[in-house]
Amino acid sequence: MNDPNGFSRYGGTYHLFYQAYPDGLNWGPIRWGHAVSEDLIRWERLPYALMPDQDYDVGGCFSGTALTWDDGRHMLMYTGCQPDPDDTLGRGLQIQCLAFGDGTTYEKYDDNPVITGDMLPEGGDPYEFRDPKVWREADGTFRAVIANYNRTNGAQILLYRSNDGLHWEYADVLADGEGKPGWMWECPDLFPLDGKYILMAGTMGEVHTICRIGDYDPCCGSFREDCWQSMEQGFDFYAGQTVQTDDGRRILIGWMQNPRTAEYREIDLPINGQMSVPRELQLRDGKLLQTPVRELISYRTDEVVYRNVKLGGEARAEQKFNEIHGRTVDMELQIRPDAGKPYEWFRMRFAEDADHYTEFTYEPETSVATLDRSHAGPGRTDLTRAQAAVRDRGGRLDVRILLDRLSAELFINDGEQVMSAVIYTDRHAEDITFYVKGTAVMNIAKYRIKENK
Ligand code: FRU
Repeated sequence: MNDPNGFSRYGGTYHLFYQAYPDGLNWGPIRWGHAVSEDLIRWERLPYALMPDQDYDVGGCFSGTALTWDDGRHMLMYTGCQPDPDDTLGRGLQIQCLAFGDGTTYEKYDDNPVITGDMLPEGGDPYEFRDPKVWREADGTFRAVIANYNRTNGAQILLYRSNDGLHWEYADVLADGEGKPGWMWECPDLFPLDGKYILMAGTMGEVHTICRIGDYDPCCGSFREDCWQSMEQGFDFYAGQTVQTDDGRRILIGWMQNPRTAEYREIDLPINGQMSVPRELQLRDGKLLQTPVRELISYRTDEVVYRNVKLGGEARAEQKFNEIHGRTVDMELQIRPDAGKPYEWFRMRFAEDADHYTEFTYEPETSVATLDRSHAGPGRTDLTRAQAAVRDRGGRLDVRILLDRLSAELFINDGEQVMSAVIYTDRHAEDITFYVKGTAVMNIAKYRIKENK
C-alpha cells in the first residue's frame, strides 16, 4: 500500500481509503483499499472501493479525496491513469474522475473524466497532474486543488472550481514551488487551522512533506504564504491527508514510508507499506505542532513510571529499567541536566537485541537530535541517519515515542518535530536502553499499547 486517500467522516465513522496493490510487494496498477474506524486507532477493512477497470483508469486509480454529497452519498474524486499509446515513454495521461457510494460500495460516474489535461494552464504537463483534494465553500460551490508539473516553472498547485461538483473549470495557480524543495509536488491538502490556512504537499525528489502556513482567500482563490516548514524530520512520512473530527480537531495521517526506499523491504514480510499513527495538528506561535491522536491514550496499559532517575555519571554507561522494553509501546521521556550541569549527550536504543538497535541521540550543545537506523537489521536502505535541529531548552528534552512493531514515531517537545522510521528489525528485539555522557535526570512513563481498548 501507499498513500492514504479519501480520509473523511461519513455516516458517523471515519473512512480511510488507501492506494493498494495486493497482487505483489511492489507498486502496480493501483486500486483503492478501504477501512473504517470509530476512533482512528482500530480499523476494520471493507471491500476495495475502486478498481482500475475502465479505459480511463486502467493504469491505476491514483490518489484523491472524499466529501459528502447533498443527497447523502459519499463522493470520491481521484486521478485516473489513462494509458497513452502515443507517448514514447509509456506514460499515462492523468485525469480527474468521480465515484459515488454509500460508505461500502462505490460506482464510477458515467461522465468521467471531469477534469482533463485540456484544462491545464500553459506549460502544464498532462502526465504529471494528480491527487485532487476536493471541498465545498460556504456558498455550496466546489473547489479542488490538484498537483501539476509545469514544464517552465516546475511544481505547481492548481485550483479548479465547480458549481455542481460535476462540471469543472480551471481557476488559477494557487501556489508554485519557487524556493521550496521538490521538482513536483504531490497529494496537496488545503485546510484551515487555528485562524490560518495550511497548504501541505509531498515534495518529490527531496522527499518530505512540507506545509505552507498562510491565508487562503476563497473569493479570489488566492493563497498568501507567511512561512513554510518541513513536517517530518525522520525518514518515513509522505502523502499526508487530513480530516476534521466532530469536535473540531484537524487530524493528519500519512503513508509511513519514504518513496525513495519503498522498493526496499524485508523479503519475508507479507506486507509492504503502512500508515502513520494519526496526528492532531495545532498552530502555536506560527508553527505547526503534531501530536499523536488523543484516542491512543485509552489503549495504554501496564504503566511503568520512573521519576527523577539519575542517568550516566561515573557509575554505568548503559542503563536498563525493569519492564521498559517492548515493540508496541507508548513512552514519554523527559530529560534534563542534573543540578544545571550540562551533559554531553543523551542516547536511547530501542528495538534492540544482541545484534540490532535503532538509536536516538540528543546533544544539548548543538541541540541536534539524530535518529540512526543503520543497525536496525534488514531493510537495505541507504537512508539510515536523520537529524533535526531542536529548539534549545537548556538541555531539557521531551520525547514521546510510539513503537508499533515495524515502526517508530518520535514526537519531540510537544510535537515541534516528528521523526518517523520504518524498522524491519526482528520483532523479538525488544530491549530499550539509555546512555548519557555526563549526568542527566530522567522521568519515564511507559505503557504497552493494547490491541483493544
Ligand atoms: C504519491 C503518489 C501519488 C499518486 C499515487 C500513485 O505517493 O505518487 O502522487 O497518486 O502515489 O499510487
